[in-house]
Amino acid sequence: MLEVRRARGPLRGCLTPPGDKSISHRALIMSALAQGRSTIRGLLHSADVMATRSALGQLGAIFSEQEDRLLIDGTGVQGLQAPSGPLDVGNSGTAMRLLAGVLSAQAFASELSGDDSLNNRPMRRILKPLREMGADIHASGTDTAPLKISGGHLHGIDYASPVASAQVKSCVLLAGLYAEGQTRVTEPEPSRDHTERMLPLFGVDMPAPCTVAGGRGVFAADISVPADLSSAAFLMAGALLVPGSDVVLKNVGLNPTRDGFLRALKAMGADLEITRDPPVGNEPTGSIRIRYSGRLTGIDLPAQWIPSMVDEIPILMVLAAVADGETRIRGASELRVKESDRLAVMGRGLVQLGIPVLDYEDGVNITGVAAFRDAVLESESDHRCAMSFAALALCAPGGLQIRNSEYIGTSYPGFVHDMTALGAKMKMT
Ligand code: S3P
Repeated sequence: MLEVRRARGPLRGCLTPPGDKSISHRALIMSALAQGRSTIRGLLHSADVMATRSALGQLGAIFSEQEDRLLIDGTGVQGLQAPSGPLDVGNSGTAMRLLAGVLSAQAFASELSGDDSLNNRPMRRILKPLREMGADIHASGTDTAPLKISGGHLHGIDYASPVASAQVKSCVLLAGLYAEGQTRVTEPEPSRDHTERMLPLFGVDMPAPCTVAGGRGVFAADISVPADLSSAAFLMAGALLVPGSDVVLKNVGLNPTRDGFLRALKAMGADLEITRDPPVGNEPTGSIRIRYSGRLTGIDLPAQWIPSMVDEIPILMVLAAVADGETRIRGASELRVKESDRLAVMGRGLVQLGIPVLDYEDGVNITGVAAFRDAVLESESDHRCAMSFAALALCAPGGLQIRNSEYIGTSYPGFVHDMTALGAKMKMT
């Protein structure tokens, strides 16, 4: 249980949020496939990223820590070894989908499994393109994990993904490294492009946008991981919910395929100052100063912004809950197949607090309120829902209690520590 008290004073301070989760997964996977020793600075140490690291260790990559860096001795693109048993990637959709791409091309059999949440998430979206490439891969139930992969010889495809999903895109591109010929992915809206930005750092030539040529090498690289804008979003929301707050967040990834939340905040009237720094790796970064801005205004969120803020919808729902007027979110059905059905979990919590929420198949309408009541909320073991409710608790009359919040460690193990450093009062009991 996470217990959060109402903030009695403003949130203030300057800190660097933890490393980007998406970039951390990719840096580990590419380092493991590379020939030679790679180094990663700023890697996120969270349960999801550790799941990827542990799976890659079972496939033959060797890791050692040195001061502020992780050193990885990769196996070379053709050098992965058969694991001794099923690979359990816990709660991590990114680990499962990206590793499925790599494992589909190996000469050995493997099995990928996860926790109950992950084993119920849709895998058809990767099974279809991987099978088109020639992969021999068996799912359970209704195209869900555990996935049994026999491995095999792949050929390149031109894949038009029906969903804007970086996990699907990255899965297919990683499989494409092993395929005969070229592999290209297109999608309805641009999803996060960290894979495309990172592959060239590992010596992978991309002959055209979102295209890889199979059968070439992957070579060791030194990667620095910027801070995660998706984690920063909870601290930013805290500052917007507590009068007088003034918070600076440093070294934050500002990749344009991830910055929809910043656009949404500006549209709602938030006082936001962005200072750009030189890119880290191929990733744009900078500092964000955010100040309490009075009551925000509800917005009609453009559906095409959703892929660039897909993980920030729960925290946007929280801000909408106390904004002036109605916020309309549509085109967000992907939220229903995340670690939980996030529209439903957030909607239920807000309704419990007395905040009007109208539920649609692909979104919600939320009418902001000036005051709401206290409650014990249920995060349903979803890290982002737990942190979203925790931010809202800062302006609840007597604070809030949030059940099943241990999963915060999936993406942001230092969340309570960082919030406390800014002046919030919260503890995990
Ligand atoms: C991620 C992509 C997104 C996001 C997830 C991380 C990634 O999922 O929600 O937290 O690292 O590729 P989808 O690609 O399924 O939208």
